[in-house]
Amino acid sequence: MKPRVYITRRLPGQAREELEAACTVEMWDHDRPPPYDVLLERIAGQEGLLCLLTDRIDASLMDAAPGLRVISQCAVGYDNIDMEAATARGIPVGNTPGVLTDATADLAFALLLAAARRLGEAVDYVQQGRWETWGLTLLLGHAVHGATLGIVGMGRIGQAVARRARGFDMRMLYHSRRRQPQVEAELGVAYREFDDLLRESDFVSLHVSLTDATRGLIDRSAFELMKPSAILINTARGPVVDSGALCRALAEGQIAYAALDVTDPEPLPADHPLMSLDNLIVVPHIGSATVPTRTEMARMAVRNLLAGLDGRPLPHQVNEL
Ligand code: DGY
Repeated sequence: MKPRVYITRRLPGQAREELEAACTVEMWDHDRPPPYDVLLERIAGQEGLLCLLTDRIDASLMDAAPGLRVISQCAVGYDNIDMEAATARGIPVGNTPGVLTDATADLAFALLLAAARRLGEAVDYVQQGRWETWGLTLLLGHAVHGATLGIVGMGRIGQAVARRARGFDMRMLYHSRRRQPQVEAELGVAYREFDDLLRESDFVSLHVSLTDATRGLIDRSAFELMKPSAILINTARGPVVDSGALCRALAEGQIAYAALDVTDPEPLPADHPLMSLDNLIVVPHIGSATVPTRTEMARMAVRNLLAGLDGRPLPHQVNEL
């Protein structure tokens, strides 16, 4: 008998076919996430779950599938999964690190450049037929070369952003839980305490995972430390930034601009107060959205799932059992 697995979304590439060769696959055949009550109903009797960051995977869901032997998340972040509950039940959880590092760093840098040079406004300006002449003071932006970039979280993606910033002649600061002398030497980044990094940076780019310690990390008091000319880039997780405080900071000129790939709430409703601001760019959580990256993420998620079903350690397992 093939093991039964549930996939919460259509997968790119040949991932589904690979799974079907070894498993009986049931799939939520939509682009939107399955509602929680549907997931709760469909998970019963499944031995494997392949899920995305938009699926809430909590203790009740795990209890609804007593035979569940592996949870494979098709993303590097896994803050949607109750890790304590999975570990307590002996369920290995897999993720897809590494493969999305460069794609996400590219997007962070694209947002940095777009915010600095006001690309969203500039595109709108032309599309609205307002371009009449070359203007000496038209759409003046912020210099990138020579500016100070503060990287918060110096993991794989933070380091990849630093490599890109080096090519743009930026001065680079970082803050992370631990100082990383080897990375400092290799990339030419200087460590700063969090408050000092906020005070000194022209651009602040967030690359931390969402934990109890990082939820609301960029709050009202953080904005008070930042320069009025500062630009905030978030490609990590929406709740790392307090949305209310961000809205105030942008509206009141506490910082100059923000560029977000992730928001809180996510998706950001069209009538959210943030959406009325013109010093903000928002894109819909597309950091890893390239064909090769998403295809490889799905393949990694399949490999994690199959290993768990075989009782082997997952190639990328995030909990210790
Ligand atoms: C992740 O993997 O955690 C990203 O947010 C989406 O690729």
